Amino acid sequence: MQLTKNILDIDFDSIPIESFWNMSDKKENKMHRIHSYPAKFPAFITAKAIEHAENRGVNVNLVADIFCGCGTTAYEATRNGKDFWGCDINPVATLIAETKSQQYSNEKLEQYFNKIITNFLQYSINIKEVWGIYCRIKYWFKEKQIADLLKLKKAINETVPSKSKYMKFFLSAFSNILKPTSVWLTKSIKPQVDPFKKPADVIESFTKQVKMMWDANNENILTKRAKVKIENINFLNKKINCSFVDLIVTSPPYVTSYEYADLHQ
Ligand SMILES: C[S@@+](CC[C@H](N)C(=O)[O-])C[C@H]1O[C@@H](n2cnc3c(N)ncnc32)[C@H](O)[C@@H]1O
Repeated sequence: MQLTKNILDIDFDSIPIESFWNMSDKKENKMHRIHSYPAKFPAFITAKAIEHAENRGVNVNLVADIFCGCGTTAYEATRNGKDFWGCDINPVATLIAETKSQQYSNEKLEQYFNKIITNFLQYSINIKEVWGIYCRIKYWFKEKQIADLLKLKKAINETVPSKSKYMKFFLSAFSNILKPTSVWLTKSIKPQVDPFKKPADVIESFTKQVKMMWDANNENILTKRAKVKIENINFLNKKINCSFVDLIVTSPPYVTSYEYADLHQ
């Protein structure tokens, strides 16, 4: 298909369905489930696209995703030994994508986690700090959860080196427990409070989340160290040299900002 063809001139119904693209019998790796994100695409698409291109003689060294979201392509490209470049306008997306495309030492994860919990237990929060918090946050969280989240964030900041991949790992874990520890109506993309919800305990949720990410990391044994670069930018402003990528695997923003409300809020 010519890329220059006007999209409105393409008769999509006449494109034959190829069973190659239908499904994969392989189970998705746990790393794809470490953080919720709207409009993720199925992980197998990346490996299939690489296979499709290579069967047609393309030497695939670098894969790109210009709307990388939570890093489905980033993770799968590196898992298949390919270098990756990607970007997303949403900083939560690039945080998750960067976290997913790295490997971590179990020993360091355990050390940092234990120290975070020790520090957390030592901190006390003055109730005035909770009252002084930004009003939108108070709308979504109960006082106990706000106080514990403040302590947890402080413990992460003071334990983990700020520029390290481990900081991204623990910030992603922190980010994914915000919904269960809030009064956000579960399973709803519409931002609304559930007056009957009993929000989850912060440390229990964080421990469960880190354990789940730990298991995902253990499944992620990379054979070749691929290079990964992920930028938090608006792609429309990017000056790009088209010859630097071999294959683009992407899905454009096809949902509205409404669907991203949980992340933005
Ligand atoms: C359909 S999602 C991609 C999901 C991704 N395939 C995944 O599996 O997570 C589209 C993404 O485009 C991003 N986006 C929208 N406009 C953008 C822009 N101008 N520049 C970069 N990213 C943009 C959104 O933040 C969203 O994460």
